[in-house]
Amino acid sequence: MGDKITVPHVLKMKQRGEKITCLTAYDYSFARILDDAGVEMLLVGDSLGCVVQGNHNTLAVTMDEMIYHTRLVARGRNRALVIGDMPFLSYHVSRERALENAGRFLQEGGAEAVKLEGGMTMRVTIEAIVQAGIPVMGHVGLTPQSVHQFGGYKIQGREKERREAVLRDALAVEEAGAFSVVLEGMPLDLAQEITERLKIPTIGIGAGAHCDGQVLVIHDMLGLFDDFTPKFVKRYADLKRIVSGAAKEFIGEVKERKFPTEEHSFR
Ligand code: KIV
Repeated sequence: MGDKITVPHVLKMKQRGEKITCLTAYDYSFARILDDAGVEMLLVGDSLGCVVQGNHNTLAVTMDEMIYHTRLVARGRNRALVIGDMPFLSYHVSRERALENAGRFLQEGGAEAVKLEGGMTMRVTIEAIVQAGIPVMGHVGLTPQSVHQFGGYKIQGREKERREAVLRDALAVEEAGAFSVVLEGMPLDLAQEITERLKIPTIGIGAGAHCDGQVLVIHDMLGLFDDFTPKFVKRYADLKRIVSGAAKEFIGEVKERKFPTEEHSFR
């Protein structure tokens, strides 16, 4: 499938104009499948708070939970770059705490980079983490950990002032030394402008086609999670139907004594 994906490799992909792919993963089996399929980056997203844990937002996810899932994903990774998502409050309290927590993703989780939300206000934090040798992916626009400040999951940057603020955030993330930045939930022309202004790759989710790469939550794109489906999600499979169908067949066969047969039994 090719060489191991590294941070310099991702930067070169932008320079060569090659689109970059990223999917979320939360466990070993999915990490293996997605890595074998050829995705360049596996993001252990705090979206697991919703799609794995069943919460309404990502705010309750803890560092220990993130490290646990990162470790599972890292075990299934062969070629992809594994990025651990820093959960709410794990990088806000102090720079020292942010550095320690970022380090845990690499030391205990086996990740090769971390992601954190925020632009201008996170500049110093990103700088400190990068200076410790830990690659950082930024995340600006609709940052889900600020859901209460935004008053919901609202597209960011439609109004002039907010547009300029999102642009400033993206520039700050690059200046702080991040190797890439997620652009989430913003008008596509804003994402285009940011992508053109930055040297580091932009990875879009709900930010249109002009970004250097795209990321989706795996449960959304496979149709495993349908509590709500944002407009930007494309369903590439309907696994809920397939899983439900298989479960119903199993139930039917057990009740009717059709499973297990000789074939599935020992003597
Ligand atoms: O938590 C997550 O999965 C994310 C992606 C949607 C970018 O932050």
